[in-house]
Amino acid sequence: MRSLEKSNLHFKKAISKLPLGVSSNFRYWGDDKTIFAKYGKGARLWDIDGNEYIDYRLAYGPAILGYADPRVDAAARAGMDVGGVFALATEMEYSVARRISRMVPAAELVRFSNSGTEAVMAALRIARAYTGKDGHIVLEGGYHGVFNEVLWYSEIEEWDPEDGDPEVLPFGEGIPQVTKRLFHTAPLNDADAIEDLFRKHGNKIGAFLIEPIMGNCCGIEATEEYMKAVREICDRYDVLLIIDEVKTGFRVARGGAQELYGVRADLCTFAKSMANGYPISVVAGREDIMRCVGNGVVHGGTFTGHSISLAAADKTLEILDETNALQSINNYGERLRAGLSEILTARGIDHCFAGHPSMSGLFFSSEAPGDYRAWVDSDYEFYDALAPEMHELGILIEPDSREPWFMCEAHDMKCLDETLDKFARAVDITMNKIADKERKKRTA
Ligand SMILES: Cc1ncc(COP(=O)(O)O)c(C=O)c1O
Repeated sequence: MRSLEKSNLHFKKAISKLPLGVSSNFRYWGDDKTIFAKYGKGARLWDIDGNEYIDYRLAYGPAILGYADPRVDAAARAGMDVGGVFALATEMEYSVARRISRMVPAAELVRFSNSGTEAVMAALRIARAYTGKDGHIVLEGGYHGVFNEVLWYSEIEEWDPEDGDPEVLPFGEGIPQVTKRLFHTAPLNDADAIEDLFRKHGNKIGAFLIEPIMGNCCGIEATEEYMKAVREICDRYDVLLIIDEVKTGFRVARGGAQELYGVRADLCTFAKSMANGYPISVVAGREDIMRCVGNGVVHGGTFTGHSISLAAADKTLEILDETNALQSINNYGERLRAGLSEILTARGIDHCFAGHPSMSGLFFSSEAPGDYRAWVDSDYEFYDALAPEMHELGILIEPDSREPWFMCEAHDMKCLDETLDKFARAVDITMNKIADKERKKRTA
C-alpha cells in the first residue's frame, strides 16, 4: 500500500498559506490524495513520500523529452548566463522564431509569451483587431486556458438531449457575465452547426478557435473532412481560423496538428512541448494578420522572451526537428496502446483509443466519441475507479478521464513492461471492487 503520509502532513501546512494547498486548482486531488512532487527524471516522478511513478501526465504535456533532460537543461543553464530579461529584445528570439516558421508553415510571424493562456488570449485579440468582430467560437469540450472569454463550457453530465442544446455555464465564479456574449459554441465535427452560427452571428464572430485533437477531452479528434470544411467556411464568412496547438504543437508532428490535417491556420498557438517544461509560448500566423501587432494591437509582458526559456526552446525544438524523437515517442504510444488493448480484450472490456499515440485518450466504449456529447456514453466511471488504483501501483495518469495519456522520449521498454503489468493488476483490482460493490448492493 502506497503511503502518502508526508504529502498529507504537508497538505495541512500548505492549505494554511495556499488556497487548496496548491498553485493550480487541477493539482488538488483531495485532502488526503494530493501528491507533492519532489523531483522528476526522465519518464519518472518521485513524490515527497519517496513513491516512484511512471508519469503519463508529464505536467499535462510539456516534458516531451522527459524530466530534467540533460541536453535542454544544459542549454537552459547557458541561457541563465545571459541574464534573464532586459526589457529589450535578444538575438535568440529571431533564431527560435525562424525555426518555428520552418517547422510550421502557417507561422509566418511569431510572438513569444509565457503560457498557453497568454498566447490564446493574444490570438483572440489579434483576430478581433483584424476582423473588427469581437465574438469567437469555442467547441464543446474545448479548453483554451484560464481567461474569462474562454472559461465557459457546455454542461453535458446532467444534460437531457430532449431539452435542446446543453446549457453554457461559466467554469466558476468571478467570470464576468458580459464575456458570455462573445462566446459561441457547437459540437465538434458538425460543420453545418458552424455555418449555422456564422449565418446567424457572422457579423459578430471574428474567430473560430479549435484544438483539432482535443487534448482536454480525451483526444477526441476532428475528422479531416471537418477541418477542410471549417477552413472553407471561415474563409467564406471572414472569420479567422485559430488552431490552438498548445498541446499538439511540436508533439503530434513537427508541424503539429496542422501538418497531420493538411490545414493551415490563420493564427496558431504553441506552448507545452516547445521548451520541455520551461515556460514559454507562441502566437504565430499569417504575416498580414500578425502585422496588426504593434500596428494597433498591444502585445508584450515583462517576462516574454526570457533568456532561459528561449535557450530551452531553441534546444528542444532543435531535437524535435532534427532527430527521430517524435517517431520514437509515437512508437512507444502505439506499443502501449497495443499492450493495454490486449489486457482489456482478454477481460472482455470494451475500449478504444482516440487522439494521437503520443497523447492518447482511453475510452471504455467500443467506438471513440466524435464529440464531447458522446463522451457521456463511454464508461468513464470505470476510468474514474481505475485511475486511483494506477496511482497506488505507481503509474501516474490524470484522475479525470478527459485528460489523455502523454508520452515522452524517455519512456522506454522498461517503463512499458512495468506499465502493462501494473495496468493489468489495476484493472483486476477495479473489476473486483466493482463486483464486490454490486454483490453488496444485491444482498442489502
Ligand atoms: C489547448 C490548450 N490551450 C491553452 C491552454 C492553456 O495553457 P496554460 O495552462 O499554459 O496557460 C491549455 C492548457 O492545458 C491547452 O491545453
